[in-house]
Amino acid sequence: MIADTDITPATARPTLVLGVTGCIAAYKACELVRSLVKQDVRIKVVMTQAATRFVGPVTFRTLSDEPVTTSLWDDPGSSAVHHVSLAEEADVMLIAPCTANVMAKLATGRADDILSATALATEATIIIAPAMNTHMWRHPATRANLETLRSRGVIVVEPELGELACGDIGEGRLASAERILEVTQAELGRSSDLVGLGVLVTAGPTFEPMDPVRFLGNRSTGKQGYAIAEEFGRRGANVVLVSGPTSLPDPFGVTTIRVNTALEMQAAAECVYDDVDVVVSVAAVADFRPEYVAGDKIKKEDAPDTLVLVRNPDILAGFGADKGDRFLIGFAAETVDVLKHARQKLVAKNLDLVVANDVSEPGAGFGHDTNRVVFVTREVDEHLSSMTKREVARRIADKISARVSKMP
Ligand code: C5P
Repeated sequence: MIADTDITPATARPTLVLGVTGCIAAYKACELVRSLVKQDVRIKVVMTQAATRFVGPVTFRTLSDEPVTTSLWDDPGSSAVHHVSLAEEADVMLIAPCTANVMAKLATGRADDILSATALATEATIIIAPAMNTHMWRHPATRANLETLRSRGVIVVEPELGELACGDIGEGRLASAERILEVTQAELGRSSDLVGLGVLVTAGPTFEPMDPVRFLGNRSTGKQGYAIAEEFGRRGANVVLVSGPTSLPDPFGVTTIRVNTALEMQAAAECVYDDVDVVVSVAAVADFRPEYVAGDKIKKEDAPDTLVLVRNPDILAGFGADKGDRFLIGFAAETVDVLKHARQKLVAKNLDLVVANDVSEPGAGFGHDTNRVVFVTREVDEHLSSMTKREVARRIADKISARVSKMP
C-alpha cells in the first residue's frame, strides 16, 4: 500500500554474492567482507582460480563465516549446479575487483568457471568494480565490454586515478572501499524494497486493424515499459505487464499478457486493476481505430477514399477516474511544449506523476536505449540527465519505494 513513509527491507539479512577475480587488488575484497559482515550482510564469496593465487579462500571463509566456492566442481552440499543455487540466493552480486578478463566473459556470456556461471545465472543486480592497468582499462575492447554491461543494467563502480600495482600512475585502480560499499548498500536496500506491491505496467504500441493484413500502429518498441516491469519485478513487486506487439521477450519475474489493440489492452488492464497499488502506463495506445475492420483483405480497387476512425478509450484516464489509493504514473511523449502538455495530463487524468520526454531529441524516446525525462508532479518538475531506460526505470521504482510501506 502506498504511504508517505520510508520502507524497511523485507528480509533482515540480505545475501551478497561477492565475486573476487585474479588481480593484486583481490586483497582489498577482504576489507569489503569485514565491513559488510559488520552490517549484518550474509556474504557468499566465489573466487576465480587466479584470485586464489592472490588471497587464500581460507581468509574469506574466516571473514565471512560462510563456505567459499572456487570451482564449478566444488561441492559444499551435494549439488552439481552450485552456481545456480548461489545465483538464486543472491540479492545482489558484487564483483570486486573485476579484471578485464572477467568483464569480457560477462559481456560475452561465458560461463566456464564458478564466478562467470553464477553471474550468468543470477537475476540479481550485478555490480562490478573494475581494477586493471590503465592501458587495459582504456582499450577499445574493454570500453566496448563496459558499454555492453552497462546497457544490460550492470552497475559499474568506476576505477580511480592513482598509483597502480605495475608502478604506473593512471586510471585503473580499484575504487575506494567506501565508494564500493556505498553503491552495494544502496543496491542491497533496493533488492526487496517493493515486496508485496501490486504493479500494472502497460507497454508497447497498439495495432489497430483495418483488415487481416493492415493496421494503424506507432513507433513504440516497448523497451522503456519492459525495463520498468523488470525493475519492479526484481525488487519484489507482483507485476503484470500488459504489452502491445513488440519483439522483446517476456521480462523475467513478471506476468506478461500480450494484446494487439487498445480495446484488448483496456480489457486486460481492467482485469488486474482491482489488485494493484501502482499503475505505470507507458504504452503508446493508439488514440483512434478504424471504425470498420474488414473480414478479408481489402482489394486495392475496392479501397474506400477515406478511412473512418473512431476514438479509442483513454485507459489511463479511466483509471484516474477510479483512482482510490493507487499511485498512477503516465508518460508524455511530446515534440513541443513538453512540460505544458505533461502538466495538463497530470491534472486531466488525475495522475500522481507524469514522466515527460521530448521524443524529437536525439537519444530519447522510441527505439533508443537511452532516455532524457522530466518527472512532473503537482509539486515540482525534476529534470533528469540522459540515462539508460533501465536507469529511468530504477528512478521510477525509487520514487515508489520512498512512498511505500510494506504490505501487511
Ligand atoms: O493523452 P496522451 O495519449 O498523450 O497520454 C499519454 C499517457 O496516457 C500515457 O501514459 C499512455 O500510456 C496513456 N494512454 C492510455 N490510453 C490511451 C492513450 C494514452 O492509457 N488511449
